[in-house]
Amino acid sequence: NETEDYSPLVGPPGTSKRVPQSIIIGVRKGGTRALLEMLDIHPDIAVAATEVHFFDWDENYAKGLDWYRNLMPFSFEHQITVEKTPGYFTSPLAPERIRQMNGSAKLLLILRDPTERVISDYTQVYYNRLESRKPVQVIEDVLVRNGALNTRYKAIHRSLYDVHMRGWLRHFPLEQIHLVDGDTLIRDPLPELQKVERFLRLPPRITASNFYFNQTKGFYCIRSEGRERCLHESKGRPHPVVNGTILQQLRSYFQDHNHNFYRMVKRSFDWP
Ligand code: A3P
Repeated sequence: NETEDYSPLVGPPGTSKRVPQSIIIGVRKGGTRALLEMLDIHPDIAVAATEVHFFDWDENYAKGLDWYRNLMPFSFEHQITVEKTPGYFTSPLAPERIRQMNGSAKLLLILRDPTERVISDYTQVYYNRLESRKPVQVIEDVLVRNGALNTRYKAIHRSLYDVHMRGWLRHFPLEQIHLVDGDTLIRDPLPELQKVERFLRLPPRITASNFYFNQTKGFYCIRSEGRERCLHESKGRPHPVVNGTILQQLRSYFQDHNHNFYRMVKRSFDWP
């Protein structure tokens, strides 16, 4: 395995691997990679390179906490280790398992308009299937079954934020879950990151100079330690245009769920 071959066995003096004090639990396609990479600008944050899938995949969970810890980056004592696995949010087992590991873990949840999230989810699967030469379907064919909205489509179910949030609130107080507005993070990343710095009780270190808008990519990119980088080309792909009637069906399907979610988290979002 490549990552194991290249990862050093010992870190710089004074460092060690620690289980995360903060976890980005999702949501898939919410902007989880952007959030992780942008938090990595902060000198007091050490991020895990890959999606670990420890708490949501039984075969990994069975490998135990030492296996998990070993996948974390080397960090200094004053640093906060952060990992992101977007699948945790929709996993029924992840909340309890995370609480068992660290009941005071600070959870970060980045959300996006649920309809937009479905289309982004579809787009990712579409490209994954193309790459592995599997047959693909146009978006209308997965969203609609027998003339009605196909609510059994996994991507639609993942956007029912109230359903998934209920499980988290059974194991964590709301104050321990910080919500990041993924739509705002796209348009104007700094304020969202400053809120995360405050939530994690870190000194403010991320500044406007850490971001620049890249016209070609159409998204903000990162400037840090003299380097400029944009996210991978799989992040920020154009979405297919969806028929207006189907869009409307999706939006009304999510409406009650969204309001339910706003009540649960005591705040609202401007999702259409
Ligand atoms: P799209 O590719 O559908 O536009 P995740 O990392 O959770 O899979 O989320 C991917 C989404 O992050 C992208 O979805 C994109 O909209 C969003 N995103 C937010 N900030 C971004 C940035 N600075 N560069 C690229 N994508 C960003």
